[in-house]
Formats: sequence, structure tokens, C-alpha cells
Amino acid sequence: MGRWLVLGGTRFLSRAVATAAVTRGHEVVCVARGHSGAVPAGAKLLAVDRDAPGALDPLRGEVFDAVVDVARMSLPWVRCALDVLGPTAPHWTFVSTISVYADSVTHGSGVDAGLVTPRTDETPTEDGEAYGPIKVASENAVRDAAGDRALIARAGLICGPDDGTDRFGYWPNRLARGGRAIVPGDLAQPAQIIDVRDLADWIVRSGEEHLVGTFDASGPRSTLGAVLDENADAVGAADLERVPVTPDALTAAGVQPWSGPRSLPLWLTPAEAGMLARDTAPAAAAGLRCRPVADTARAALEHEHVLGPDRPRKAGLTPAEESEVLTSLL
Ligand SMILES: NC(=O)c1ccc[n+]([C@@H]2O[C@H](COP(=O)([O-])OP(=O)(O)OC[C@H]3O[C@@H](n4cnc5c(N)ncnc54)[C@H](OP(=O)(O)O)[C@@H]3O)[C@@H](O)[C@H]2O)c1
Repeated sequence: MGRWLVLGGTRFLSRAVATAAVTRGHEVVCVARGHSGAVPAGAKLLAVDRDAPGALDPLRGEVFDAVVDVARMSLPWVRCALDVLGPTAPHWTFVSTISVYADSVTHGSGVDAGLVTPRTDETPTEDGEAYGPIKVASENAVRDAAGDRALIARAGLICGPDDGTDRFGYWPNRLARGGRAIVPGDLAQPAQIIDVRDLADWIVRSGEEHLVGTFDASGPRSTLGAVLDENADAVGAADLERVPVTPDALTAAGVQPWSGPRSLPLWLTPAEAGMLARDTAPAAAAGLRCRPVADTARAALEHEHVLGPDRPRKAGLTPAEESEVLTSLL
């Protein structure tokens, strides 16, 4: 078995990667501050702040069989890791995003589609507009330094246990509560998700097999209607009644698409809908296996119960907002 370095490892995807690597018998070192949580049992934490100068110097000279970097929005982090470990690592995974694409309208595009213009910020930024551009620059840095050994996984909407975004989890939580639940009227819009455990498992198996290349890493193409059906079948309450509301009526009622306060998560405008309609057949052919949505729904609901289903949410409608919108439609 190998020696793995996970740059991250204390939350969600990178923690799931560390878990999968430990489960598959690897020795796993995680590099993080330790602020977001603990590394999984069996992994070792090297407490490091990647914003500090020479952050990864303690790793110089260390040898790993595989490195996984989830750097979200920092080209200097990516460059530093490549400088210290790139020359010796036989395999390098960089977790990127489908937000790298310039066109969010077209359905069915693959990894050859045009990208947004890279941004090479040298200082940390929280500007959301920089997310895709910094990922493009980070991908380029990985290809330049280790392209012959690199897997670039452009993740789609990652769902399931420990998701901190409150997006996908809104639906199992809402449908399990029952009663009259507003759903987006355009149920034929595309929907595409990847369970965090499936993505993590694929990343680890790909590292073991030295899979190289760029992939859209998400599940099969589906529709919002089918995803909500699978959620409802898995966890929906007996008295659940889904009330489809047209996009115009939702907009008039101040309901936002996709995410954020007063939103219906996963609902997309046509200008964004191509985001959840990527061609993921190449990733499937390269071994990315996806569990049924129902399984993700059950796990997401369990996580919702841990978080407290009535907490203030980052995404979705509160019960009061939903009642108000339903009343306004009468
Ligand atoms: N969520 C989605 O739907 C989605 C979709 C597409 C792509 N992605 C990509 O998927 C990846 C998700 O990664 P993730 O789930 O592991 O979450 P993450 O929020 O990106 O955190 C990753 C790790 O970074 C560590 N970290 C943060 N600041 C640090 C610092 N200054 N120094 C050292 N470590 C630091 C955190 O640990 P500590 O806080 O303990 O330091 C954590 O373990 C990202 O690359 C994201 O861009 C996500």
C-alpha cells in the first residue's frame, strides 16, 4: 500500500478522500490547520497554515506515492505544493470545478469546452467571481509542473454527508417534513450530482491506478424532476404534496435560484442550466461509479438531523417563507 498526502482532510471532500485512502490500506498524512474538524481515524494531521510563508517546508524531502490537493481559491497554495512535492510525486490529483467553463447555457459539453480567463492573484481573495478563474490558473500550474502524472477532477455539485452548503440537503429535509412543499415548476431542467463518497472513492482508486487527464467528475445527466422523485421516494413524508411553481411566479415572489437565502436549491435559470448537464461519460468510463440518488438523499437527511433541521440555513426557504409564497399564489 502507498503513502498518501491529502492537502486538506478535515472536512467534506478532502476528509472523505482521506477516509477512503485509509480504508483502502494506505498510510495517510493530511495537511490542514485543523480548524474545520479532525482528520479521519487512521490518518495523521500535519498542522500547517498554507497562507504562512514556507508553509510546506516541513514536507521537503518527504516521499509520497500520491498527492491530492483541493485548494479552493489560492494559486500560491497550488504552486507551493507543486514546488515542494511535484518533482517526486508519482501521481497528483487536483480537485477543480465545473465553474471553470465559460458557457453555462449549452447542455452536454465536455472538457474541451472553452474556459473562463485565468486569474493569477498572488494574494488571498474571497471574491466569488474569482473562483472559476483561479481554478483555471491552478489547473494550468498543475499541468505545467506535473501534467504527465496529473488527474484534474472538475467536480460537479458535490452532495451527501457533511455537505456544508445546505443546498442538496434542503430537499431531503423539506420532503421528509411533508405537507405542501414548493418545488420549481421547470422539473425538466437538468440536474446532475455527485455523492462525496463516490467522488472520494474514485479519486483514491484513480491515484492507485495512475489515471491521468482532465475529467468532468459528476454523476449521470438527469432532470430536477427525477432527482426530486428519487428524494421523495427515499425519504418523503406520507402527507407530502409537491406544489410546482413556475419560474416567473417564483421570481415575482423573490425566490432565488440555486442557493442562498430565500432560494430553491438546484433550481437553475436557462442561463446556468448547462452547469448541471456536463458530459460525464468519460469519467464513468474511467471508473467513476455513482450510487443511486436515494442513497445520497438518506445520508444527507441523516446529516441534516445532526445539524438540526430547523437551524438557520445557508440555502432554501424557511417554513415561514414557504407559507408566505404559497399564500401569495392563492
Ligand atoms: N461543494 C461543491 O459542490 C463543489 C463543487 C465543485 C468543486 N468543489 C471543490 O471541491 C473541493 C472541496 O474540498 P473540501 O470539501 O475539502 O472543502 P474545503 O472547504 O475546500 O476545505 C479543504 C481543506 O482546506 C483546509 N484549509 C483551509 N484553509 C487552510 C489554510 N489556511 N491552511 C491549510 N489548510 C487550510 C481545511 O482545513 P482547516 O480548516 O482545518 O485548515 C480543509 O481541510 C474544493 O476544491 C472545491 O473547490 C466543490
